[in-house]
Amino acid sequence: MIDSSSCPAPGCCSTPMDFLACLCILQLLYLASSGVAAQAATSPARALDAMLQDYAYRAFVRPHTGIVYSATVPPNLTGVAVSAVRLRSGSLRRKGFAHFLEFAVPTGIVVQPYVERVVLVYHNLGNWSHYYYPLPGYTYLSPVLGLLVYDAANLSAVGLQELSIVASGSPISISFSNVRSVPADGPAPRCVWFDLDGVPQFRDLEASNVCSTFRQGHFAIVVNSSEIAPGPLPPGTITPPIPTQGVHSKGSSKGWKIAVGVVGGVIALVLSALLVVCLARYKRDRKLEVMERNAEAGETLRMAQVGRSQAPVALGTRTQPVIESEYVA
Ligand SMILES: *[C@@H]1O[C@H](CO)[C@@H](O)[C@H](O)[C@H]1NC(C)=O
Ligand SMILES: *[C@@H]1O[C@H](CO)[C@@H](O)[C@H](O)[C@H]1NC(C)=O
Ligand SMILES: *[C@@H]1O[C@H](CO)[C@@H](O)[C@H](O)[C@H]1NC(C)=O
Ligand SMILES: *[C@@H]1O[C@H](CO)[C@@H](O)[C@H](O)[C@H]1NC(C)=O
Repeated sequence: MIDSSSCPAPGCCSTPMDFLACLCILQLLYLASSGVAAQAATSPARALDAMLQDYAYRAFVRPHTGIVYSATVPPNLTGVAVSAVRLRSGSLRRKGFAHFLEFAVPTGIVVQPYVERVVLVYHNLGNWSHYYYPLPGYTYLSPVLGLLVYDAANLSAVGLQELSIVASGSPISISFSNVRSVPADGPAPRCVWFDLDGVPQFRDLEASNVCSTFRQGHFAIVVNSSEIAPGPLPPGTITPPIPTQGVHSKGSSKGWKIAVGVVGGVIALVLSALLVVCLARYKRDRKLEVMERNAEAGETLRMAQVGRSQAPVALGTRTQPVIESEYVA
């Protein structure tokens, strides 16, 4: 860590000391802003994806292709279920995988970039759904289920990136098993799909408990809770499981982090510009200094013997004098 007392305020950078101070402060601010930016970049949901990929792969002890293995999750994630299956991508494309828990994967799945074998990882976030995927204004009627696809080349790999998949024919369908019911006169339940960036998109249900998708991500059935969340609930309606206070504070803390990241970035940018100016000024001042010193000492030209007298000679002669006879030979 840089001792901040050794960093005086950035002013005019005409001396090497000031120049160093500029560098010093710039580095301090850059470190601070990049730290915040890195924090803002990894959402809890993405950190969870990475953790669950690790636990899913640990379930593969001498794995058979096409067999679904369920993983063991750590005690601090009790309530989350994870399963995984390893498949050849050619077989996945030709045959699909019809019974991957709630997911029915049809034929025609294209995996990019191409790998020989893939691992499909299933998440059921259970009572953690609204913690990792807060959705203000909506109530979850089902847990959030995830389907993510990874390269199977190294089953001890950690921190893998998801592959990209597209259902080129019919969509992947998700048949939720325990969907809570809502009063018929209330708002209609909808499907929500979170892509890997956590951006929600809403779709209509295919059937009372079925959603469909052409891509991987996380899925759930939700209902607009703006009418049922406030006030006492009539008997028979579901209790909104979203602790709205937690959701709001989480959302705003995320926004706050991003805001700090952006401000930090702008500060870093301004300081970079300042550094460039400082550098230019420092170089110019050095040049002036050298020129002044030379002026004081008097321009000493190299003297050379020309014939019988001494004459000044410029250092960079344009054409070297040659004796003509050298050309001829
Ligand atoms: C759960 O514990 C593991 C270590 O066992 C830790 O890496 C992880 O961050 C914890 N997760 C949560 C959600 O607290
Ligand atoms: C989910 O339930 C388990 C126990 O079944 C509990 O340990 C955990 O804290 C719960 N998670 C949340 C987010 O409430
Ligand atoms: C929920 O429904 C209400 C009333 O129909 C509407 O005003 C509100 O925008 C909806 N909320 C969301 C998040 O779509
Ligand atoms: C597999 O991944 C682990 C963990 O990242 C790494 O240590 C190991 O070298 C990898 N093995 C191969 C064959 O790439």
